[in-house]
Amino acid sequence: MLVSIPMPSRTALLLAWYDKNARALPWRARGGAAPDPYAVWLSEVMLQQTTVAAVGPYFHKFMQRWPTVEALAGAPDAEVLAAWAGLGYYARARNLIACARSVAARGGRFPDTEEALRALPGVGAYTAAAVAAIAFGRRAVVVDGNVERVVARLFAIETLLPAAKPEMRARMDALTPRKRAGDFAQAMMDLGATICTPRRPACALCPLNAQCAARQAGAQETYPRRPEKTERPRRKGAVFVAIREDGAVLLRNRPPKGLLGGMSEFPGSVWRADFEAETAEAPLALAWRRSMGEVAHVFTHFALSLTVFVARAPLDTPAPDGARWTLPENLGQEALPSVMRKVAIHAGVMKKP
Ligand code: ADE
Repeated sequence: MLVSIPMPSRTALLLAWYDKNARALPWRARGGAAPDPYAVWLSEVMLQQTTVAAVGPYFHKFMQRWPTVEALAGAPDAEVLAAWAGLGYYARARNLIACARSVAARGGRFPDTEEALRALPGVGAYTAAAVAAIAFGRRAVVVDGNVERVVARLFAIETLLPAAKPEMRARMDALTPRKRAGDFAQAMMDLGATICTPRRPACALCPLNAQCAARQAGAQETYPRRPEKTERPRRKGAVFVAIREDGAVLLRNRPPKGLLGGMSEFPGSVWRADFEAETAEAPLALAWRRSMGEVAHVFTHFALSLTVFVARAPLDTPAPDGARWTLPENLGQEALPSVMRKVAIHAGVMKKP
């Protein structure tokens, strides 16, 4: 007699895979210990900016300096913003501070439901779901870019991103178990990061390979479907590195709102498509020397190319309105975004990391 053995569900297969293959990440609880909601929240906010590898050092630095949400809430804004510099999107660091203070004001305990987490300043749908599931064991549907890719392939979702998001979410909802929703979400993320990668996925190692519609069609790399890429617009500008006789450099703050809002920068021109490098927008009348080459940086919405001008300034040069002289030993405390770090290195006022 032929007995048909039911196939374990995708959910069960993936959880079993995770039990053996979960990455040992610094914010993950180990050996059955209860997760620290503060560490989970901090890591999830940071992970929205960049990769797991890039977050590691930032996460350690924050946990060492501010081991609890109350410690972070009590830190001066400028220190937190400077520690965040390099992670990108400054507005997120401001939200981080606001959220820490709000939690500290409630006695230092994070709320333990998705809905109440969502009400905290700067906590969006993703973070609320991730913290509720990972830190508090709630059933929540956690969808990030990795999850979208895995789900798009499993079900060969033909709809283009971003229109496909509701469908992807519904698929993740149907897969998410009542128990271990946090482990399940992290299993999907780990699978996406290590096996179901954007390019050349390692399907032979995938616990779900027998149930993957995209693989059955031999088209796994073509999911998720996206609209054809349009090229990023290009912008150009000039940036001015004034170096005083004692080594101090001239900095200013960017406007509080908008791109890199409130971060420090070397004074410069407006960035625009039709810019020709010249010194009309220099902050001081000095003998500006154009340095060789350019500094390139890619933002989400445009690619920037900066011409760097360098000049020496006498010790008694006053800083123009809105600018300040910063000594080299204090440069580390400045919230310099990545593009300005590149400028500083290019101009020779900062060492390569
Ligand atoms: N990416 C974002 N959050 C993550 C997590 N908790 N585990 C693995 N990758 C992630």
